[in-house]
Amino acid sequence: MSPTPPDQTGPTGRTDPTTRSAPSGGRLLAVSDLHIGMSENRAILESLRPGSDEDWLLVAGDVGEMTEDIEWALRLLKDRFSTVVWAPGNHELWTPREDRVQLRGVARYRHLVELCRGLGVLTPEDPYPVWTGPGGPVAVAPLFVLYDYSFRAPGTDTVAQSLAYAHETGVVCSDEYLLHPDPYPDRGAWCRARVAETERRLAAHDPAVPLVLVNHYPLVREPTRVLHYPEFAQWCGTELTADWHQRFTTAAVVYGHLHIPRTTWYDGVRFEEVSIGYPREWRRRGHPKGLLRQILPYPAQPATAPNGAATTAGQGTSTR
Ligand SMILES: [Fe+2]
Ligand SMILES: [Fe+2]
Repeated sequence: MSPTPPDQTGPTGRTDPTTRSAPSGGRLLAVSDLHIGMSENRAILESLRPGSDEDWLLVAGDVGEMTEDIEWALRLLKDRFSTVVWAPGNHELWTPREDRVQLRGVARYRHLVELCRGLGVLTPEDPYPVWTGPGGPVAVAPLFVLYDYSFRAPGTDTVAQSLAYAHETGVVCSDEYLLHPDPYPDRGAWCRARVAETERRLAAHDPAVPLVLVNHYPLVREPTRVLHYPEFAQWCGTELTADWHQRFTTAAVVYGHLHIPRTTWYDGVRFEEVSIGYPREWRRRGHPKGLLRQILPYPAQPATAPNGAATTAGQGTSTR
């Protein structure tokens, strides 16, 4: 990679606080939901630069939908950051009719993993890299566990009822039409297989080295409680991961998908939602925590007691 001077001003003209200082040894930075299919977001991606040649970047999914876009974006980031770690979002797993790659489900995921390997970008299929810079050592574990509709809509008792309720209200994730589970019978089955495999790997990890867990979805349901449409939560994770931040020694959890950038604490563990989101969202709320989130070294103490209370809040909509 070629180190570049930090660009302190994003395309919106705001100063990105994460680029103000670059401690020696570098920083562990994170971002998600770049959605570069939108030209204004492409400009944001092009503005992202490390503060030093030792910075790592964790990318928690939803870079884009088209294979060509995903490759362009990850190549650009890998050219700038010494290490780039990617966990897939639902958008990368879509099979849009316009994409040159028409693979579906597991085959598309494997294709993206191979694409990353060609770029030198780390994926959930690689050994967990160890950050030994400031705040370390920690092992960075990119996860791919999808969702299984267990974050059911309020007042419903079964997955079928929950999905039916969403169809009644019209708040239905585009995954239903574009994210194919092949060869699994449904997305829930794919999720359960990924959870089992991921649990096996996390259990085999040396607990003496804390983990930074990077997943597109929050590992616990609580962050979805502020969604504007609560029935959208069924596309936002799984109850099967609810205790992972406690079962496995966890320094921090990085996630996106909700497009509600904030820091919250659950059971004393820091959860960082690192989304950029859609232009209509960031035009309204700005980038309250900067474009790139500093995960380590941890830059500040929590503003509230580390027991589930949010330091900032936001609202969500139905398209993630
Ligand atoms: Fe997403
Ligand atoms: Fe997203």
